[in-house]
Amino acid sequence: MGEGIADYTKFTVDLRRHMWMAGVEKDLRRLIWQIATTGKYISAKIHESNRKMVGVKNIYGDDQLALDKISDQILQNKLANSGFVLEYASEEQDSVIKVGKGDEKYFITADPLDGSSLVDTNLAIGTIIGIHRESIFSTGRHSMVAAMYITYGPLITMIYSAGKGSHEFVLDREGEYVLSEEDIKLKDKGSIYSLGGLRRDWTEGHLKYVQYLDAEGYKLRYSGGFVPDINQILLKRGGIFTYPGLKDSPKGKLRLLFELQPMAFICEQAGGLATDGVHDILSLQVEKLDQRCPVYIGSRFEVEKAKEYLSGN
Ligand code: AHG
Ligand code: MN
Ligand code: MN
Repeated sequence: MGEGIADYTKFTVDLRRHMWMAGVEKDLRRLIWQIATTGKYISAKIHESNRKMVGVKNIYGDDQLALDKISDQILQNKLANSGFVLEYASEEQDSVIKVGKGDEKYFITADPLDGSSLVDTNLAIGTIIGIHRESIFSTGRHSMVAAMYITYGPLITMIYSAGKGSHEFVLDREGEYVLSEEDIKLKDKGSIYSLGGLRRDWTEGHLKYVQYLDAEGYKLRYSGGFVPDINQILLKRGGIFTYPGLKDSPKGKLRLLFELQPMAFICEQAGGLATDGVHDILSLQVEKLDQRCPVYIGSRFEVEKAKEYLSGN
């Protein structure tokens, strides 16, 4: 990796050069770059602001926006033609799609458009990708080799990790992703918290945990978009995002495969942690596509503290 890329080279090292300097394996570099470029096409669709519903729901019962489906198709087409992807699993589809010819070596999970219900409010939304070297029905710790997400906000930014740190790029005017933050590292303890789920549905243990953070003076930062909410914790170098198990839905809301594994991979590479309250997110066995689980993700101190409160001691 470009040890100590001095500040003056910031914004001049592009994504492909950075991955080469970081020693990322060639096919994986090309795959990450191809996925990153889909961000330009998805962003173009967002700007066409076709916020119309397609009148159907995905397997989670979420209303599907035309944008969800279009983003999914853009990604699936790109990956099917990449030459690197054997199987594609998407939050917007109810089964794993075989997109390769048979000898490709990567398995992709995608939340093509996360936070799409926010698009009419002009808040930031995103695309979340997990890159696996074998079947996704494993644990993230075992099958994942990389993860990335794209944030469609005032800037289009992309954070990736291929297991050698987590790095941020900005899409510049020429349509090139240029390095903006290299090897992001979270502080042990942050000062913001991002709290999902209705307060009246929180369990006793979770409520006591939040009250502890309240007493510590944490500032609330919650947009309702998982991607910008996590991105804020990474760029502010600390804090905690949680979407807990709730009284009537103990598994919470967020999807293990499509949302939590990629963010846990990136967060761990940034020196953070991610747990369901007991186990590391990346140690959880994936049994089915629509598996949800509670999540506490961010700085080590806050995540360890959550485990204490949730284990009742
Ligand atoms: P998606 O748009 O892919 O369905 O994801 C929405 C998720 C996630 O982005 C966010 O953290 C969570 O929904 C917010 O849920 P609430 O609206 O219950 O706060
Ligand atoms: Mn999502
Ligand atoms: Mn989504």
